Amino acid sequence: MRPIRQETDMADVAYETNDGTLTAEEFIGLAQRVWPGEYNARLVEEALAKTINTTARRGGYLVGCVRVLTDGYLFGTVPELMVDPVFQRQGVGRRLMELAWENSPTSLFFGAQPGNEAFFRKLGYKRSLTSFGRRKPRLK
Ligand SMILES: CC(C)(COP(=O)(O)OP(=O)(O)OC[C@H]1O[C@@H](n2cnc3c(N)ncnc32)[C@H](O)[C@@H]1OP(=O)(O)O)[C@@H](O)C(=O)NCCC(=O)NCCS
Repeated sequence: MRPIRQETDMADVAYETNDGTLTAEEFIGLAQRVWPGEYNARLVEEALAKTINTTARRGGYLVGCVRVLTDGYLFGTVPELMVDPVFQRQGVGRRLMELAWENSPTSLFFGAQPGNEAFFRKLGYKRSLTSFGRRKPRLK
């Protein structure tokens, strides 16, 4: 995918959609800081290749990421949005979600983690579909 150069904000955080430099290792590094767990680097790499990824970096270091999974016409969702705990509440999550929206060809529907409802409301999202889920262990 062609990289879409975005901007650098007041806190020197640079945003880029279709960031071709995003590696599974740095994505997992961020995920470990937000949701510690086991991640398979090869399968993460395959997953990253299927989504529109927007990154937030400070001095090259990955401080936030949002992915959009869309079929290009009928449906789109946000598999996850993560901001490094040290960088939270500085506007990074808001800008990532704005860029996710601008670069998505479709509407977006997703589930919010409990406690984040007010964040999404502030960004213009409204309560929508009731969410259902059934868990499977992640592939190893
Ligand atoms: C949720 C998350 C992405 C928010 O990112 P962030 O960079 O901290 O948020 P921002 O600084 O851009 O916040 C934008 C606005 O929402 C508010 N806000 C942020 N998180 C909030 C929360 N949990 N509850 C209420 N308001 C919140 C901010 O105060 C700010 O308000 P303002 O514009 O009036 O000043 C971040 O906390 C995170 O990564 N959390 C862990 C992972 C997670 O839960 N991801 C979302 C899955 S649904």
